[in-house]
Amino acid sequence: MMRVIRVKDYQQISEKAFEIIKQTVTEKPDAVLGLATGSSPVGLYQLMIKDHRENGTSYREVRTFNLDEYVGLPKEHPESYYSFMHNNLFDHIDVKEENIHIPSSEGDLKEQCEAYNNALEEVQIDVQILGIGSNGHIGFNEPGTSFDSVTHIVDLNESTIKDNARFFDNDMSKVPAQAITMGISNVMAAKKIILVANGENKANAIQACVMGPVTEFVPASVLQEHPDVVIIIDEAAASSLYKEKR
Ligand code: F6R
Repeated sequence: MMRVIRVKDYQQISEKAFEIIKQTVTEKPDAVLGLATGSSPVGLYQLMIKDHRENGTSYREVRTFNLDEYVGLPKEHPESYYSFMHNNLFDHIDVKEENIHIPSSEGDLKEQCEAYNNALEEVQIDVQILGIGSNGHIGFNEPGTSFDSVTHIVDLNESTIKDNARFFDNDMSKVPAQAITMGISNVMAAKKIILVANGENKANAIQACVMGPVTEFVPASVLQEHPDVVIIIDEAAASSLYKEKR
């Protein structure tokens, strides 16, 4: 079942998502969290850090699994998702390094996909955080990816490279062309999924995700088939929903 929560702005998106995460780790201190990078969840991560500092909410027993990582950037690169997650969350809460899982694109890529997939098969993610690409991707599962996919290597679409160039001096040639990503079936295996999206740039993708046909051309549309999805969006991202009624 898909529940859409429309709020005023980015801060309120982050607060709603945070409520769910806080409840999850309070009720289940050894919860498994699926995490995303990119701009969308940063506000949520800031609230988790603030709450950890002020209220002592602990992540000591929590295990985390990230969706994806660029191919071709060493872990230490400031724009690797390894760095992103440490800078924006992990270095500021008490999660144990050995409980953090981020796909690695170092060494043999096929082996890395297999290893990540095996690790995912041993757990069930309690809550998976997702952003959505302006082309409807989830993780780096670009349009056309099979709903049955597991962790795999992808060629990033031009639109994704363009969207992410803002992290690379607005230079598309600096954005890695490939990534390693959890597959769609890995994402769908989570008990609960929270998708956060803000801004006009996401309006069409949100419309297709929520109201469009379930099709591999819009990876996020698969979420309509998941038993427990919460889509948290601001007014701009919601602006193409129910447009015909206005
Ligand atoms: C990130 C990820 C991507 C992003 C999406 C939106 O780990 O898997 O699917 O969630 O590209 O990115 P932002 O939030 O930067 O607009």
